[in-house]
Amino acid sequence: MVKDNWKAKGYVDEAVDAADLKQAINELKRSKNAVILAHYYQQGDIQDIADYVGDSLALAQWAARTDADVIVMCGVHFMGETAKLLCPGKRVIVPDLNAGCSLADSCQAADLQAFINDHPGHTVISYVNTSAAVKALTDIVVTSGNALQIVNSLPQDEKIIFGPDRNLGSYVNQATGRQMLLWDGACHVHDRFSVPRLLELKKAHPHAPVLAHPECRGALLKLADVVGSTAALLKYAASHGATEYIVATEAGILHEMRRRCPQCEFIALPPEDSASPCNECEYMKLNTMEKLYNSLLHEWPLIEVAPDIAARAVKPIERMLEMSARLGL
Ligand code: 13P
Ligand code: SF4
Repeated sequence: MVKDNWKAKGYVDEAVDAADLKQAINELKRSKNAVILAHYYQQGDIQDIADYVGDSLALAQWAARTDADVIVMCGVHFMGETAKLLCPGKRVIVPDLNAGCSLADSCQAADLQAFINDHPGHTVISYVNTSAAVKALTDIVVTSGNALQIVNSLPQDEKIIFGPDRNLGSYVNQATGRQMLLWDGACHVHDRFSVPRLLELKKAHPHAPVLAHPECRGALLKLADVVGSTAALLKYAASHGATEYIVATEAGILHEMRRRCPQCEFIALPPEDSASPCNECEYMKLNTMEKLYNSLLHEWPLIEVAPDIAARAVKPIERMLEMSARLGL
């Protein structure tokens, strides 16, 4: 655990008064020439202090072009790893290294290698929510913000393995008319949104467009007005003009939705198995302002990738960035 590692490292987990935390983080950031990148699922105070807040595609794009010496990735481990692969000479920190991802965990490199061996002659497309070891077996990385367009840009008869998210893969198959072979993985947050609760909410709010992330199940996506990455859902909400929206993705995004559209009501779709009004990714919520401060102070914990894996894993990410630029994404 990170706390134990802090002690093992001989670092003190400094306590800073909550009121001073923001100023202390900003001072450290300036003195170390650091940049803070945050995903839309982070806690609101972290989104507020970040230099850039974005979806996983934007976070990779920002990491690739920053001239900062230190990148603090307020997101989950694979996001930090992607930044490290793109910027091997920089120090990349994720405030809590325990911030994993159930979707990334659903695809282990050895299992993917066996699947690839069983299906020769396929292009391997992996969602960015994967480990560097899985990316090292991959031809093209995609995110929810470019998966459709990247798959569409490939020849119609190209044989493709797509992993690890079966819901995103099915959505892309349906939208593009492809028959990609799908890895059977899912995100534990998005896979459990409730279709019956969505039907109830639609009845109660008949004019509210339904905004859904493509990691949700197909039955739910069929009921959505917009399916897209976190950035795409935000863009739609900010420009569409409705007064209320039903949101089927992790609840952290409501912070930015409410900031951009304070006059709108955003209704978080609950999960099937809980009376909770919202649906949160516990990994994303492991990062806190205190951990952000301490990690910046000690420049630790750092993301490291073994050089042999890194040399192979960066290629499909660079290919994604090149294809995204060509496609205007
Ligand atoms: P985005 O690609 O929309 O940022 O989503 C990342 C993610 O982890 C969704 O659960
Ligand atoms: Fe991974 Fe799901 Fe959390 Fe996104 S919401 S980081 S896919 S576990």
